[in-house]
Amino acid sequence: MSSISAITQLPPKRRVRESFDRCAASYDAAAVLQRCVCERLLAGFTPRSTPATILDAGCGTGFGARLVHSRWPAATIVGVDFAPKMLVFARQAGADCVAADIEALPFAAQRFDLWWSSLTVQWCDLPRAVAEAQRVLQPGGELALSTLGPETFRELREAFVGVDNHRHTLGFSEPEAVSRALAQAGFSAISVQREAIELHYVDLQALLRAVKEIGANSVGDEGRRGMLGRHAWQRVQAAYEQHRTAAGLPARYDVILAYARK
Ligand SMILES: C[S@@+](CC[C@H](N)C(=O)[O-])C[C@H]1O[C@@H](n2cnc3c(N)ncnc32)[C@H](O)[C@@H]1O
Repeated sequence: MSSISAITQLPPKRRVRESFDRCAASYDAAAVLQRCVCERLLAGFTPRSTPATILDAGCGTGFGARLVHSRWPAATIVGVDFAPKMLVFARQAGADCVAADIEALPFAAQRFDLWWSSLTVQWCDLPRAVAEAQRVLQPGGELALSTLGPETFRELREAFVGVDNHRHTLGFSEPEAVSRALAQAGFSAISVQREAIELHYVDLQALLRAVKEIGANSVGDEGRRGMLGRHAWQRVQAAYEQHRTAAGLPARYDVILAYARK
């Protein structure tokens, strides 16, 4: 059994926000998984009608907003994120943005036809975020969200077993927990899918650097490497190297795609 436990409590919001602010300039170049997940979230989405008003909750630098704009060019799209520096890039790319917490949205009830959120709710109190989604959606409005499941970074956690007992990952949600939160918020027509995505890296350092560059320091803290002695670090690297394939060192992402209707 792993001695590396998941964080049961979320990191403080201030820390999450500062971490995303710090990585805003490097985010787009490193966000390979995030683009891939946004594309899958959109590909799996078949709304009953064309949305005219769309909220991108946790829009980051605006990739998702641009993607949904390409599918529904006539829609009004508002991006919300609590990291102001991420919004600088989203605005430069033409997105209409508001700095706010998606758990307490500064919008009137029933304002949107579609609440869209990709790879953000794992940083949030999920029941609160989806309750806000329910509030700001029109009756019949639709929700599309992606998040990460508990198999994410499995190899990474295993490599640290017995070496760094303080290694943390976020407490990623089981698909059933996502379903339950949506049902409790009052959503219907809930569909939750799970997809494994594997990305490959040259070495472990490159993997941890990529995680840091997208601001997810609480997940794959590259700084932790510096806190390990040389010997311990070599043990971690050797453990991870056992997973190497011809494509490189794999990192597993357990992607959850969820759709629902108000
Ligand atoms: C991994 S990024 C994903 C960004 C974008 N959706 C994408 O797919 O590229 C997560 C984003 O969520 C934002 N975020 C996290 N928790 C938030 C909250 N409670 N309210 C608003 N934004 C939040 C972060 O600032 C960050 O920009």
